[in-house]
Amino acid sequence: MLRRARLKPLTALWVLTIIITALLTAYAAWLFYGTSHLRSPVSTATSPATTPATSTEHTTGSNTSTATTVATSTRAEYSITGNTVYLPLPRQVSNVTVEEAILWRRSLREYKDEPLTLTQLSMILWAAQGITDPTRRFRAAPSAGATYPLVLYVVVGDRGVLLEPGKYLRAGVYRYDVMKHALTKVREGDLREELAKASLNQPWVRDAPVDLVMCAVFERTTRVYGERGIRYVYMEAGHAAQNVYLMATALGLGTVVVGAFHDDWVASVVKAGKDEAPLYVIPVGVPKALRYPSFQEIGNWYSSQRGGK
Ligand SMILES: Cc1cc2nc3c(=O)[nH]c(=O)nc-3n(C[C@H](O)[C@H](O)[C@H](O)COP(=O)(O)O)c2cc1C
Repeated sequence: MLRRARLKPLTALWVLTIIITALLTAYAAWLFYGTSHLRSPVSTATSPATTPATSTEHTTGSNTSTATTVATSTRAEYSITGNTVYLPLPRQVSNVTVEEAILWRRSLREYKDEPLTLTQLSMILWAAQGITDPTRRFRAAPSAGATYPLVLYVVVGDRGVLLEPGKYLRAGVYRYDVMKHALTKVREGDLREELAKASLNQPWVRDAPVDLVMCAVFERTTRVYGERGIRYVYMEAGHAAQNVYLMATALGLGTVVVGAFHDDWVASVVKAGKDEAPLYVIPVGVPKALRYPSFQEIGNWYSSQRGGK
């Protein structure tokens, strides 16, 4: 009797422990993996694109491909309060498929004397570091342990970004606020010439209407992963930069990643924090020429490599 009486509270304690452990595990799994895997892979979201799709034909030798982009209005929802520019919210602005974006991606270094629209800049920044899972605050590019070491600056030239017909964003250096999808002005004036000098005089840095400067706070990742975190940061910069390339391609824009520059000089141009190291300068502009190869062309090339096999 005495034994049974002693066992009862013990058993209850065990059951309680098991229930709490199960609940904690379920909560941790929900936090980490979310519930998206439970949903249908077919998105139920409707495209908010309101403007009609326009098709542009680009002839490349014997191959003709069609690039379809949704025409974007130059006037998009934005607001400016003091030094903060609230960017148009991310939305579907192109009908280019991921395989087309990969096929057509190219480093493009010659740009027309034309501005980007604020919507285009918004989409480029969102592709690089925007939020894609608000619950966990996960971003468009992967990050080791979700430590997110990257910081983005935008060097905007005179008449580099069109807000609405006849109205431009003030030239200057802006810092991208990931959580608000906004830009905060940190410097006034057109700094592209100086940025180009800091980038070994690469003319595309001066000529593009806008340059992104991708910096990293290594400590955010190395405090979790130690020395190995250093390589993780470089890998992440590559992921984010590739997203910029692919979004630029989808929007019919041109870009190139620039790694050759004087670190301290570039950092001083954007007034980067002491712990922010510049990794890439990324000019973005309207390209002088675009080439849209077809899968047929690529297929023919592979076939010739195989000697007809
Ligand atoms: C790490 C890295 C650094 C680069 N630095 C520069 C650079 O300083 N200037 C430049 O014009 N292109 C630079 N590029 C772009 C390459 O020249 C380009 O990717 C290469 O020529 C292949 O062309 P594609 O990007 O069109 O495939 C760099 C690319 C990488 C991955």
